[in-house]
Amino acid sequence: MGSGKNNWNAFGCHVSEDLLLTTAERVVGLGLRDLGYQYVVLDDCWQDVNGRDQNGRLQPEPSKFPRGLNFLSDYLHSLGLKYGMYSSAGEMTCARFEGSLDHEAEDAQSFASWGIDLLKYDSCYHMGRIGTPQISFNRFKAMSDALVDTGRPILLNLCNWGEDYVHTWGMSIANSWRVTGDIYDSFTRPDDLCGCDTSISDPFCIAPGTHCSVLFILNKVAAFADRSIPGGWSDLDMLEVGQGGMTDEEYKAHFALWAAMKSPLFLGNDLRDMTASAFSIINNPAILALNQDPHGRSITRVRREVDGVAKDEWGIGETHVWSGYLQNGDEVVILLNAGAADMEMKATLAEIFVSFGPGGSAPHVKSDWSVHDLWAHRMPHKTAAAIVDAISDDERAAIYKNANWYNSTETPYAEGLRNGDPRLFGEKIGVIEAGGTLKAEVKSHAARVFRLRRIQKPGELFKEKRHDRMAKDEL
Ligand code: GLA
Repeated sequence: MGSGKNNWNAFGCHVSEDLLLTTAERVVGLGLRDLGYQYVVLDDCWQDVNGRDQNGRLQPEPSKFPRGLNFLSDYLHSLGLKYGMYSSAGEMTCARFEGSLDHEAEDAQSFASWGIDLLKYDSCYHMGRIGTPQISFNRFKAMSDALVDTGRPILLNLCNWGEDYVHTWGMSIANSWRVTGDIYDSFTRPDDLCGCDTSISDPFCIAPGTHCSVLFILNKVAAFADRSIPGGWSDLDMLEVGQGGMTDEEYKAHFALWAAMKSPLFLGNDLRDMTASAFSIINNPAILALNQDPHGRSITRVRREVDGVAKDEWGIGETHVWSGYLQNGDEVVILLNAGAADMEMKATLAEIFVSFGPGGSAPHVKSDWSVHDLWAHRMPHKTAAAIVDAISDDERAAIYKNANWYNSTETPYAEGLRNGDPRLFGEKIGVIEAGGTLKAEVKSHAARVFRLRRIQKPGELFKEKRHDRMAKDEL
């Protein structure tokens, strides 16, 4: 799935040609395009307040987009970016503009004629066509088919907030599917507006809602994180990094978990006014390489503990251990402390590699592993501040180059990983011996993110027994 920038979290309905153009220039100027943030997505509220034109076609609001949408897409494409737009599988969009339900063929033609590369497709005002997986599937499939019929390759990003078990059918017709109601800028704070509890089969769930915290989203997706496959990904919703409601450690944890879960990474903050600390989170190539790992499978949760973990002011406190296989045989491990106190966290190799065999039977447990901290080489604050504050793009590009930062346009992540590019592997901080335990200090509301690398013993032939459905060679 692509990554990029979406205006919704920071700007809501305040969209305009000027916002999109300046955002696009900033994506390029800050070097974000060359880290893989390629899509600039125009969310809701772009439509004409007067609805469709006399031929029944969608049209943009002329006061917001005076030069039309082709002007916008041509400009984005000329910058080497891709262009995304938004509609709803409903009579209206969530902000009550014209929706695409029962207009799929003509709207898909319009989108293709505007040169879009991605459609975010929402689920508001669905006219009651919801309630079983089959009904929702058919409603969304109509647009999926219509987009294919245009002949233009367009990614389809479903946004039905986890309803009707979308994690069981989304991959059949779309490139990603949202798993919860809308994210908001808090790490753990519970909010009744985030309607459904974390059980995927909550029969009393009326609406997934909005105001879902990072922790809520993690708990919701944990049961089906493994549904993500290359070409079809769970979408944990747009990023809140840089919006101001979380601490630096919370934003680091949010970003790393989204990346390792292979969620599309859509920046939600205002790029024209970004702090250096937000910038040095979203530009960490060692974390982005997790998201772009060619194996293309999500981390899964191997342990969650609630009892005995210090609680915050809302009574929330828990820890998680997540792990997952990477293409080159490395293993990513994330220790999340969503408790109210700093603590030492532990995970045995048997737990970390449980998906390769239960009870410590995985052959991996018999190896020694080096431990690499993937935040160790975070861009220094001074460098990040100099880039963010630079007057010109040229000045920015020069600082970037001198900082020896990663450029995935020049060297795709798959190539960098294959070649062992040190910028993608963090810093080695220790070794876990065979049968041993990973131990790390984890601050309150923070995560430690490690890449474990197997230490080959002389003359050893390591045979992996994997029950993972998709072998890496099949990709
Ligand atoms: C829904 C979606 C959001 C955003 C808004 C726009 O709430 O979940 O991501 O697109 O609609 O109205």
